[in-house]
Amino acid sequence: MGELQGRVAIITGAGRGIGREHALLFAAEGAKVVVNDLGGANDGTGNDATPAQEVVNEIKAMGGEAIANYDNVADWEGAQRMVNMAVETFGDLDILVNNAGILRDRVLVNMTEAEWDAVIAVHLKGHFAPSRWAAAYWREQHKAGNTKPRNIVHTSSTSGLFANPGQSNYGAAKTGIATFSQILAKELSRYNVKSNSIAPAARTRLTMATPGLGDRIAEPENKAAFDEWDPANISPLVAYLSSAKCEFTGETFFVKGGEVTRIRSWERAESIDQNDRWGVAELTVALNKMASEVKS
Ligand SMILES: NC(=O)c1ccc[n+]([C@@H]2O[C@H](COP(=O)([O-])OP(=O)(O)OC[C@H]3O[C@@H](n4cnc5c(N)ncnc54)[C@H](O)[C@@H]3O)[C@@H](O)[C@H]2O)c1
Repeated sequence: MGELQGRVAIITGAGRGIGREHALLFAAEGAKVVVNDLGGANDGTGNDATPAQEVVNEIKAMGGEAIANYDNVADWEGAQRMVNMAVETFGDLDILVNNAGILRDRVLVNMTEAEWDAVIAVHLKGHFAPSRWAAAYWREQHKAGNTKPRNIVHTSSTSGLFANPGQSNYGAAKTGIATFSQILAKELSRYNVKSNSIAPAARTRLTMATPGLGDRIAEPENKAAFDEWDPANISPLVAYLSSAKCEFTGETFFVKGGEVTRIRSWERAESIDQNDRWGVAELTVALNKMASEVKS
């Protein structure tokens, strides 16, 4: 029996890349999958039903259950339709994997309003809207006495957590997603929902288009060697975080190849406190002393 046997999952952005691998693995582990994908380009422009439909066809060909959904994750009603589709088609919703994403990299001084807005919309609102409708459904179910475990997995990035220059829009959204996940973990524990996020590293069209990265993440020439950049390496962790056996909530994990690393959240470090309001001049002396100690 699969680790996700009989569970119903929505996976956003599951037509390509990492999300596609999640959908295939989830189905192989017995989940019924809503394969969401708008089918746009790297930068989020355009739409195409083909990627989501092809993944559904692959799942059905291997004997699994899946249905395609072409809604935009950043669309409020679209996100509600997605959740309704899971419940109407498969009778319930156990798992939401927020994965859909786009890139519009640019240094801050050249970034346009449209580049900022598009990335914030797909990542931040695109995590919020499906989570909001899923959580409302889970609260309703819990109140009705259906208290079984549910899981949400979000997709963050080291570009945000470790601050990659040239990606202030994407990085801000991705760090926001990690915090969003932690807040959901606290808010939704009363409904038996676990919320965790991942920061993956894998070869997909997004990373292949990143300057300087394409060569490093190419497929190994030796076909027998472990392909550490294969996007399929990400999915077992996401399946675990989506399973009823998952014992974490509010955590973020880096995942690449065979590596899974828990990432520490923000934590308080050096501190000064004189138990009275600081004058600017004396605060300057005290904080510059701290700055020199932090640097050394
Ligand atoms: N590949 C990596 O190394 C890496 C690293 C860090 C984070 N990520 C994140 O992983 C996730 C998956 O990215 P990927 O690398 O597989 O890229 P990808 O481009 O191969 O897949 C992303 C999918 O999301 C879909 N999508 C985009 N906007 C959408 C929208 N508004 N509604 C519905 N679907 C939409 C696209 O059509 C695409 O199929 C993204 O959130 C990305 O930011 C990837």
